[in-house]
Amino acid sequence: MCGIVGYVGNKAATNIIISGLHRLEYRGYDSSGVALLNPRTSRLNIVKTPGKIDDLETSLAAEMPAESTGATLGIGHTRWATHGEPNRVNAHPHLSRNGEFAIVHNGIIENYIALKSRLAQEGFEFVSDTDSEVIAQLVEQCYEGDLTRAVAATLEMVEGTYGIAVISVHHPSTMVAARKGSPIAVGICDGETIVASDVSAIVQHTKQVIFLNDGDILTATGDNVEVVSVKNVPVSRETTHIDWDIDQIEKAGHEHFMLKEIHEQPTAISNATRGRLVDSEGTTKLSGMQMDPYEMARIDRILIAACGTSMYAGMVGKNYFEDFASIPAEVQQAAEFRYRNPIIQRDTYMLAISQSGETADTLAAVREAQRKGATVLGVCNVVGSTIARETGRGVYLHAGPEIGVASTKAFTCQVSVMAMMAIALGRTRRLSTQVGQRMVREMMSLPEMAQAVIDQEEDIRRIAEKYAKAEDFFFIGRGYMYPVAMEGALKLKEISYIHAEGYHAAELKHGPIALLGEDVPVVGLVPDIQGKDKTIGNMQECMARKAPVIAIATEGDKDIDAHCDDVIRIPPCAEFLTPIPVVIAEQLFAYHVAKIRGCSIDQPRNLAKSVTVE
Ligand code: G6P
Repeated sequence: MCGIVGYVGNKAATNIIISGLHRLEYRGYDSSGVALLNPRTSRLNIVKTPGKIDDLETSLAAEMPAESTGATLGIGHTRWATHGEPNRVNAHPHLSRNGEFAIVHNGIIENYIALKSRLAQEGFEFVSDTDSEVIAQLVEQCYEGDLTRAVAATLEMVEGTYGIAVISVHHPSTMVAARKGSPIAVGICDGETIVASDVSAIVQHTKQVIFLNDGDILTATGDNVEVVSVKNVPVSRETTHIDWDIDQIEKAGHEHFMLKEIHEQPTAISNATRGRLVDSEGTTKLSGMQMDPYEMARIDRILIAACGTSMYAGMVGKNYFEDFASIPAEVQQAAEFRYRNPIIQRDTYMLAISQSGETADTLAAVREAQRKGATVLGVCNVVGSTIARETGRGVYLHAGPEIGVASTKAFTCQVSVMAMMAIALGRTRRLSTQVGQRMVREMMSLPEMAQAVIDQEEDIRRIAEKYAKAEDFFFIGRGYMYPVAMEGALKLKEISYIHAEGYHAAELKHGPIALLGEDVPVVGLVPDIQGKDKTIGNMQECMARKAPVIAIATEGDKDIDAHCDDVIRIPPCAEFLTPIPVVIAEQLFAYHVAKIRGCSIDQPRNLAKSVTVE
C-alpha cells in the first residue's frame, strides 16, 4: 500500500527520502514521487513517475534542478492506486493550485467528490483523478500564515482515512503530518526529524520513534516536534524504542526477502516462544495477555478477526482454543465482522490477528468489538502498530520485520502464539499438568522441526520444477490441515500467479472434482494426524481422475508413496504442531515455483503488504 517518507533537518533530504522509499517498496506500489523545497528559488520542485523507485531515481537525476537535491526539506511517496490509474499525474506529491503547498497522502478521502466540486466552483483546478489532491487545495485555501492550523482546518472538512505529510514554501524548515486511520511514525534524531508511514523507513537513522494517534497533528522541525489535536490542544506522545536493526530488514545474502523469511523461521519461532514456555508447570506465560487465572477461566467464547494469512492462522488457533481449552471459538473475516452486527456477550473475548497491526478491516473489527463491550487482545508482530496500541493487551510475535509481501514467518509465529495462549487457557480448565508439560516440550522442539523442513529445500525445489508449468492447483486437507490447505493455495497464487484453491478434502467431490485432470495437480496434506487415511482416500479419487498428486507426509510413512506421484516429507511431530512444518514445505514449494516462473516474488503484482484501505 502507499508509503510516506518526509524529512526535515540539516542533511540533504533526497537520499534519506529515496532510501526510505526503497524500504517501503515491500508494501506494494505502482508509482512514486518526491517534492523538495529548492533553497535557492524557495519553490517546491516535484518529480514523479509510474513504475519503481529506480525509475524515480532516474527521473530525479534528469528532472530535478541541481540545487534542489541539496534541499533539507522534502516529502516522498509510493502510491498504490485506488482513485485513478497509476500514472505520473496521479502519483504523489500533489501541489496546490499556487504551487506553494505539497502533500502526500495515504488512505482514502471519502467525500472528495463533494469537496472537489466545491473547490472547482471556487476556481481551483484539478490535474489528477485522485481523491488526495483535494487536500493540497484545501490547505492552500485554509492557509492564513500558520501551516499547522491550515492542515487542521483541512482535516476538519475531510471524511475518510489519512496519513499525510505537508510542506510549504512559506515554512522552509517545517513539516506537518497528521493521521487518522493510516499510520504515521516520527523518527527523532539529533537535528533531524523523519516522518514515515512505517518504521522500516526510519530505523536506519534512529531507534527513537513517536507514533501518532488518530486525530494527532505533528509540527516538526529538525530540532523539535510538537503534537496537537485537530482542536489545537497539545498532546504528549511517548517515545518508543524500536529494537529492529537494519540487518533485519535487509536480505542477508538471500535472493529474496521471502526466502530469507522462510529460512528465519527456526529463529523467529524461538523468539516467539522464548521465556514463554514453562516446562515445570506445564503451562505458558504470556504477560501481555494481562490476565489472572480467574479471568482466563471466565472466558466463554473467543472471536477471532483477521484477514489473509492471519485469518488462516486464526483457523488453526480456533482448533487450539476448542481442543485444549474447551472454549468455543469462531473465526471471522474481519471485514465481515464489522458489518455483520456480531453478537458479543459478557465474557466474549476477541483476538485480532494481524502481522502488520494496521490492516484496515481488522482494525475496524477491533473498534466495533470494543464498542460492543468485548475485551480485545491483539496478536501482532509490529511493535507499536495501531492494533497493538488500541487493544492495549495481547501477545507480540517477536518474529522480526516481515518484508516479503507473502506472509511466512508471521504465520508460523501466530500459530505458535495461539498454541501458547490455548495452553495457558487450557491449564485454567481441564488441561492437566502432565498433558501441558508434554505440549510445552513438544513446542520446544519447534525450531528444530522447522529447520528439518528447510533442510529439504533442494528436494522441494526439484518437485516444484516438475509442476511449475501447471495453471491450476488444488490443496486438500482436513482437521488441522484444512486451513493449511487454504494457506498453501494462497501462497502459490500470491507469488506464482497460478490459480490455486484450498479445499477441505471431503468437499472436493462436491463440485471441484469436476475440474480435475492431468493438468491439475493436487497437493494432499497427510502428515500423521487424525483423518489422514480419509484424505489419502480423497487423493486416490484425484489420481483416478488422472490428476498428479503431491503428498506432504510424515517422514517414515512408507505407505504414502503408493498414493501419490511425489512426496515432501516433514519430521514427525505432535498433531497440533503439524501446521508449522507443513506450511513451511508449502512456502518453499510456492517460492520455487514462482522463481522458476520468473515472478516478482517480494512484490507480486497488485498485492500490498499492509492493506490499509477497506
Ligand atoms: C495483505 C498481505 C497478506 C496478509 C494480509 C493481512 O493481504 O498481502 O500477506 O496476510 O494482508 O495482513 P496482516 O498484517 O493483518 O496480518
